[in-house]
Amino acid sequence: MCGIVGYIGNKKAKPILINGLLRLEYRGYDSAGIATIENDKISVIKNKGRVAELDKVPGINDLQGTIGIAHTRWATHGKPSTENSHPHTDMSKQIAVVHNGIIENYSELREFLQKNGYTFYSQTDTEVIPNLIHYYYEKESENDKELKLLKAVHNTCQDLKGSYALEIISSLLPDKMIVVRKDSPLVIGKSATEKYISSDIPAILSYTKDFYLLNDNEYVILSKTNADFYDKDLNKFNKPVENIAWNAAAAEKEGYADFMLKEIFEQPKSIRETIGSRLTQDGTCNIEGLNFTKEYLESLNRIYIVACGTAMHAGLAGKTIIEKYCNVPTEVDIASEFRYRDPLIDEKTLVIFISQSGETADTIAALKLSKAKGAKTLAVSNVIGSSITREADYTIYTHAGPEIAVASTKAYTSQVVLLAILAIYFAKVLENKKYENEIKELSREILELPSKLEEVLKNVKPIKKFAKKVYTEKDMFFLGRGVDYTAALEGSLKLKEISYIHSEAYAAGELKHGPIALIENGVTVIGIMTDKNLVEKTISNVQEVITRGAKTLIISNQDLGDHKFDNVVTIPETNPLISPILSIVPLQLFSYYISKEKGLDVDKPRNLAKSVTVE
Ligand code: M6R
Repeated sequence: MCGIVGYIGNKKAKPILINGLLRLEYRGYDSAGIATIENDKISVIKNKGRVAELDKVPGINDLQGTIGIAHTRWATHGKPSTENSHPHTDMSKQIAVVHNGIIENYSELREFLQKNGYTFYSQTDTEVIPNLIHYYYEKESENDKELKLLKAVHNTCQDLKGSYALEIISSLLPDKMIVVRKDSPLVIGKSATEKYISSDIPAILSYTKDFYLLNDNEYVILSKTNADFYDKDLNKFNKPVENIAWNAAAAEKEGYADFMLKEIFEQPKSIRETIGSRLTQDGTCNIEGLNFTKEYLESLNRIYIVACGTAMHAGLAGKTIIEKYCNVPTEVDIASEFRYRDPLIDEKTLVIFISQSGETADTIAALKLSKAKGAKTLAVSNVIGSSITREADYTIYTHAGPEIAVASTKAYTSQVVLLAILAIYFAKVLENKKYENEIKELSREILELPSKLEEVLKNVKPIKKFAKKVYTEKDMFFLGRGVDYTAALEGSLKLKEISYIHSEAYAAGELKHGPIALIENGVTVIGIMTDKNLVEKTISNVQEVITRGAKTLIISNQDLGDHKFDNVVTIPETNPLISPILSIVPLQLFSYYISKEKGLDVDKPRNLAKSVTVE
């Protein structure tokens, strides 16, 4: 997905912009570009392909400007090409813009501008923006140049339908930059004499920890020393500075071959951070930011958990725990389905939204819909100040640290841990006596997870060996029952995403109802068995596929009796409700090693983006 970087200060902007773009590479892109202002003139350099190639374009090192904007583009309107890359300028080349998001009514605006004498050079939706700003600037009677440009930007935004995060520089106002956002992320990092702008905190985290987190329809005029904020009606207001405690080193590879591997190995630490002081050995449970009452929780007739991809799989694991200890029917929904299916929601519904990035377009739309229908909303996110956290009534953070690899790993385990803690919190508020001892036991098991994860991560060899054996396969199957099925779904998604191997996850009991017809000699089946009450059943399903010639990998913490399986990865025993937090790790590693064997780009799989900010 597109990425934005900007700089205004005393230093040469170009190296800072390129460095920021490199840090945003994980979002996925097909072209990149930068623009700076020098001697009251805008210079734009852009290129199809990688940022490293942009950095080799003749003349780029001659850019001396100390104010600049930059962009990595993920093509939506118009093919990947230099002309379609950002920044785009207006026809007179006085205004340059980078844009994340989609302008839905761009054809109409383009037609309007063409009728008014404007010419277009790209097929993008974005190119209407600088031209429309120019159009309104020319029409504006305001004398003050700064306000005149701001009003032109404001008028332009009134015409735009869709989503946007915009950085705008202009030779008409050469020492300033205007930024604005709507339904697309944008943050501003600050020091006394510099401003760093980005769509994503990690891109600028090495420069500052002090951030302004922009809300929708807020406009900012930036100079190196100032940030002037204006609301949707252009009334000036003050915005507080937020300190982001993330460590810049956490956004680096730190000696690991890939971010994904680093993030897999970080899980004991990230889980520790997720637990924090929320749970204690003596059984207390507090979650900062939550103040639900017993009356409110008792009034609920339904809880929805809404998310996409991996976050949705975390929701599936969380559902079982919440439903069991809170006795409220809990449904998990895919955000892109939920938002269009007129779900049954009223003031007796609590809707929990899970999103690592907090910027997923479908999840945000589902949240807005739920609020409009009168439900209370709770966001579970990893990114402080992200869009869902600003929309939701309540927010709880996973505190997993920046997740850079497209394939989500540590965010998933942190989400499941946090949902388990949330279930315990709900049960405590509800004064649930029935499960008091079980809940105490579950709390203890959660606190033991980091050290158990360390154990899992010591046992990499058999996974690597099995990956080497099967990496050329075309299809694979994942089987499990209960929570093991939820882990199977996530394991299968990881495999597809980074190894491009077709895979399916099945509830093991469903095998006989169709999928077993796909099993033939040599097919690979991964079986997950972590629940004492279900292990015999899953074993018999796995035996069925072995009889039909399947090669198997078993992930288990159960006594497998006399059954002899060829490849078994043993993980520590834990409460089955939270076992996906352990069983997913060998599956993450399995996908990782397959991807490496195939020589693929693990961190940036084809066609995928880290943050899916468009529908
Ligand atoms: O940022 P989010 O958690 O909202 O992202 C949701 C999905 O796009 C994400 O989990 C996706 O499925 C990952 N690439 C999976 O590894």
